[in-house]
Amino acid sequence: MNSTVVEISLSALRHNLRQVAGRVGTVSIIAVVKANAYGHGVVPVARTLLEAGAHQLGVATLAEGQELRQAGITAPILVLSGIFPEDMSLLQELNLTPVLPSRDALLMAGRRGTPRSAPLPVHLKVDTGMSRLGLTREEFLDLLRSDWPPTLRLEGLMSHLASADAREAESAEAQLARFRDLLDAAKAAGLAVPAAHIANSAAILRFPASYFDCVRPGLMLYGYVNGPTAAADLRPALSWKTRIMQVKRVGAGQPVSYGGTFVTSRPSTLAILPVGYADGYSRALSNRGRVLVGGRAVPIVGRICMDLTVIDASVLPDVRPGDEAVLLGRQGAAAITADDLAAWQDTISYEVLCQISPRLPRVYLED
Ligand SMILES: Cc1ncc(COP(=O)(O)O)c(C=O)c1O
Repeated sequence: MNSTVVEISLSALRHNLRQVAGRVGTVSIIAVVKANAYGHGVVPVARTLLEAGAHQLGVATLAEGQELRQAGITAPILVLSGIFPEDMSLLQELNLTPVLPSRDALLMAGRRGTPRSAPLPVHLKVDTGMSRLGLTREEFLDLLRSDWPPTLRLEGLMSHLASADAREAESAEAQLARFRDLLDAAKAAGLAVPAAHIANSAAILRFPASYFDCVRPGLMLYGYVNGPTAAADLRPALSWKTRIMQVKRVGAGQPVSYGGTFVTSRPSTLAILPVGYADGYSRALSNRGRVLVGGRAVPIVGRICMDLTVIDASVLPDVRPGDEAVLLGRQGAAAITADDLAAWQDTISYEVLCQISPRLPRVYLED
């Protein structure tokens, strides 16, 4: 069977959701489960979060929404990253709610919309400073001066913060002010906005003024925070473990793995792990990362291969094939977090979690 597994603590997910709920009170929670629930496995995670009190789910793509519907999940699902015209009929068939990021998208959805008696619910996205998806302020104000398509029902107005996790709060506060301004303009124009939302995890932790009617936590549900936040009691939900496949004693001067980028400087005990970049264990960790074995953090030596990684286990005289090696998670008193892996490979915890390959089995545990 598979020697490398990803373990997910369902209790940690529930705990983290409670931390969101504790902060936002009665505000509705859209649990962001895109990218296979940040690598945690979308269907079990979505079920757990909905049972624990999340009101809606957020995915990036139509295919992600389809996977949830095929698993029998009936909760409202928001497709966050836009929609192409050819996907509209499937979107409606699956009862998914699109985010429309432009006037063209609104007109397109309006043309394909449902009968006036049962208009298609949509969320509009406005760009308040991120310069990514979304109507500009001028486009939105222009839209307020035109007729709303009768085949669509505006359910939400959303935006996204570019720098909620930045040390300085100015950028996020300026975006919040622009968002409020657009909500006021909608109200003045008589366009009812049932649900306004802008807050991601960092905003939930730092800016109570960002809560509006819904919040969209992603990262914090999985137990991590980004940037300077007030102390948050979150529990990382994911551990990633493998087992040593082979132990090899080599002399000094021995090159290790492709290209021999590491050469032993003394007689060494190498341990070979059956995990590699095809599993999402980034090649950028080559000669930089660490792995927990026997409660000690030992270095990765040489290049990470597609399916194999070599570590220097010389500090562990009794190391054996079959011994557990923790890539992410705890072993005894030692721990490696997604933030550690991110620092070693010069990225962010989001990417570390999302890149864990679907080829690895996910095992769901209660504490
Ligand atoms: C539109 C949108 N909302 C919410 C989130 C969740 O963000 P976070 O994981 O920082 O909470 C994301 C994630 O990137 C997103 O793209």
